[in-house]
Amino acid sequence: MELSQVINERRSVREYRSDPVPDAVLEQVLEAARMAPSWANSQVTRFFAVKDPAVKQLIQEAVSKWNPALDALGQAPIILVAAGIRGKSGFYKGAPSNSNGDYAMFDVALAVENAILKARELGLGTVLVGIFNVGKIKAALKLPAEMDPFILTPLGYPTSNDQFVPPRKEISELLYWDRYEEK
Ligand SMILES: Cc1cc2nc3c(=O)[nH]c(=O)nc-3n(C[C@H](O)[C@H](O)[C@H](O)COP(=O)(O)O)c2cc1C
Repeated sequence: MELSQVINERRSVREYRSDPVPDAVLEQVLEAARMAPSWANSQVTRFFAVKDPAVKQLIQEAVSKWNPALDALGQAPIILVAAGIRGKSGFYKGAPSNSNGDYAMFDVALAVENAILKARELGLGTVLVGIFNVGKIKAALKLPAEMDPFILTPLGYPTSNDQFVPPRKEISELLYWDRYEEK
């Protein structure tokens, strides 16, 4: 599949079959994630592939009842949690390199984007889930203090590839030439 086709056809998938994801397929997804750029190659992203029903249950309990992706987390055979180690990315000699502070979330996002695009290429679905109780996810995964979960996604085979395409802004709305101006 062409990269542009993968980018254009990736959609948030909120209904999954229960078919397992072979470990070799998961490995390809993580291989793509591993190759993402990161601040000074600090590589602070960590993934948790959760299959254990008890841990999956704890993760679902950390997500709001009204979250449209809640059921998907139970349906898919794997919940992938992307976490980042704080205090390394974006830092030089212990101090933030710019006023944006910690770049861990940025680096995790780059790795996750690679992962979800690769997943799409392999016929897997994903939907990023950001509305959750951070403390509950940390407790469920027994994360150390310096590691924070930034995003979750179910990982599995979609029941259908016929997802609604949410409209996107035109490039003219996103792009400024040379300097900011009111649009
Ligand atoms: C950081 C982030 C957090 C998100 N959190 C949720 C969420 O909690 N629940 C959900 O159903 N979708 C969530 N989404 C998915 C977006 O709603 C979705 O990407 C957007 O509507 C565009 O649709 P598409 O992914 O099909 O192109 C999240 C997406 C991002 C990037």
